[in-house]
Amino acid sequence: MKKCIGGICAIAAILVSVSSAPLLGQIKEKSLYDRLGGKKSIAAVVDEFVGRVAGDKRINAFFAATAGDPARLKTFKGNLVDQICQASGGPCKYKGKDMKTAHMGMGIASGDFDALVEDLVGALDKFKVGAHEKDQLLGALAPMKSDIVEKK
Ligand code: HEM
Repeated sequence: MKKCIGGICAIAAILVSVSSAPLLGQIKEKSLYDRLGGKKSIAAVVDEFVGRVAGDKRINAFFAATAGDPARLKTFKGNLVDQICQASGGPCKYKGKDMKTAHMGMGIASGDFDALVEDLVGALDKFKVGAHEKDQLLGALAPMKSDIVEKK
């Protein structure tokens, strides 16, 4: 910058920042939360997902008490929405139990976890969530497996 003559340097700096601004805007990806379509879309996916789990003979026995109690089901769905909203960079705050405490003693096996993820993928596919967004969401949930699964 020592070689600036008069205002030429300042003008050059302005030109560089103005011309690169739209480019930077394109490069920076929106949050996963926004790309999923925000809280309403997440709630719709959770509704569909829980419906699929309830109909999934491989794992629905785990959810018998939850499905049979509307108030409990509502709280459960609300917790899932907040959890996904927060994990995807949204404005929500998950207030439920940590995953280890929430699933302790249920005896969930690795295959149960995979079945539940399949149901989630089915719900995401129904709403035509893109492959990139799906991968990112599943990538955020995958590390929870070791806290949830108790049996091989
Ligand atoms: C990434 C996978 C999973 C996520 C993100 C997840 C998330 C959650 C959340 C947020 C709660 C509520 C915690 C609270 O009440 O404070 C919960 C509870 C529960 N989860 Fe999971 N979970 C997962 C996997 C599983 C699997 C594989 C099973 C069984 C096959 C399972 C069965 C349950 C049951 C039975 C409850 C209790 C629901 C109730 O309160 O009535 N979860 N889970």
